[in-house]
Amino acid sequence: MRFPPGFIWGSGTSSYQVEGAAQEDGRGPSIWDTFAQRPGAVLGGDSGAIAADQYHRYREDVALLRELGHRMYRFSVAWPRVQPDGRGPVNQRGLDHYRRLVDELLSAGIAPNITLYHWDLPQPLQDAGGWPGRDIAARFADYAAIVFEALHDRVGWWATINEPWCVSLLSHAGGQHAPGERDAGRALRSIHHVLLAHGMGLAAMRAIDPTPRLGIVLNPAPVRPAPGAWGPAIEHGVRAVDGYRNRVWLDALLRGAYPEDVLGRAERFGGFPVLEGDLRTIAAPLDWLGVNYYHDIILGLGGEDDALNPGAGRVVEAPPPGERTSMGWPITPTGLTDLLLRIRDDWPEVPPLMISENGAAWDDPIAADGSIDDQRRLRYLHDHIAATWAAIDAGADVRGYLVWSTLDNFEWAWGYRERFGMVHVDFETQVRTPRRSAWWLKGVIAANALPG
Ligand code: FCB
Repeated sequence: MRFPPGFIWGSGTSSYQVEGAAQEDGRGPSIWDTFAQRPGAVLGGDSGAIAADQYHRYREDVALLRELGHRMYRFSVAWPRVQPDGRGPVNQRGLDHYRRLVDELLSAGIAPNITLYHWDLPQPLQDAGGWPGRDIAARFADYAAIVFEALHDRVGWWATINEPWCVSLLSHAGGQHAPGERDAGRALRSIHHVLLAHGMGLAAMRAIDPTPRLGIVLNPAPVRPAPGAWGPAIEHGVRAVDGYRNRVWLDALLRGAYPEDVLGRAERFGGFPVLEGDLRTIAAPLDWLGVNYYHDIILGLGGEDDALNPGAGRVVEAPPPGERTSMGWPITPTGLTDLLLRIRDDWPEVPPLMISENGAAWDDPIAADGSIDDQRRLRYLHDHIAATWAAIDAGADVRGYLVWSTLDNFEWAWGYRERFGMVHVDFETQVRTPRRSAWWLKGVIAANALPG
């Protein structure tokens, strides 16, 4: 399975998950610092205060990326490092960190791919209303312009926001992520404002320099009924969840319209606060679209209404028995091919795609000789890379594949229990040890092909 010439291989992380140094060089608090302190919010009471200490160890990490043959590194900028209050003056020391990281990557021949927002909202902006409030969009645009102004001359790939579905629904309706709310109305208002923030950010960046590639990173997935689940309730639920997970984002970003059925369902909870011109702003042209994919959403019927998907009814994720990752997630590689082809077919106006995250958590032991034989991760990556190849072979325009994650890190509500890294991190000593899958991927990258 040969990949097209110039296909981009690499991996990624995000600021709060790897940086640590939570109080250094003028960084302000983020909603994840606050949420991690809430009893019971994060497994084991963990936080990202130290994490993988990449703030200090970025040179070592870039050297590792180079040794492993990666050609792109996707990372995020911590808004509270750049604007500790979320508005107003720039904290130059915070911004300088990213300039040093970018320069280190460039001198190693690795293309930086910056995500401006991967969930660490400055706490003062949460206190002022957070994503459910409209003002956040203008604040984000100002912040985006600051970072872009500083780095547009050396960074060719940019994404505004990581997984707006998580920013809105998971964090404000499901309650699993910061700020940990369970309020359907606020979650739906967040959907609109996170998209508006994206659109206004894009406009601010394009006005500075139209040459870098600008995009956004979504987490779309096939939504299917569990085997044996059928009837009107499940059909309604599948359609509703597909609306929230896929169509609301792709329709708004690529067509400037919200799907009718999603608007109808949202009405009961106060609707979307759309003002004249918003959808035009949201649908500004994209140069690329990031697709984060882990597994299909397989739905059965549960006992009560699903809080995460307002108006979807009693749906609940119910994957069939079979092998799972240590997160308990099902393993559904053919779903990635289906997803990429559906996007091509249902949204022909879509820009070139990049698999911006794909990977799996398992914790295999370190052998006496120091090696880590993570066969299950290796097979997971193999099967999803093959699924990506199949979609390209069938005509999908996919330009790259980035593993989540470069190294073990703070896995949000799961703390340090879940290890997604191609590189193992000993969180006591901060020693990095590439797992077998990392050496295997190095060979795939060098060949630009998957062994048959
Ligand atoms: C994605 C997130 C990323 C990581 C993986 C496992 O939803 O973008 O930060 O937590 O899941």
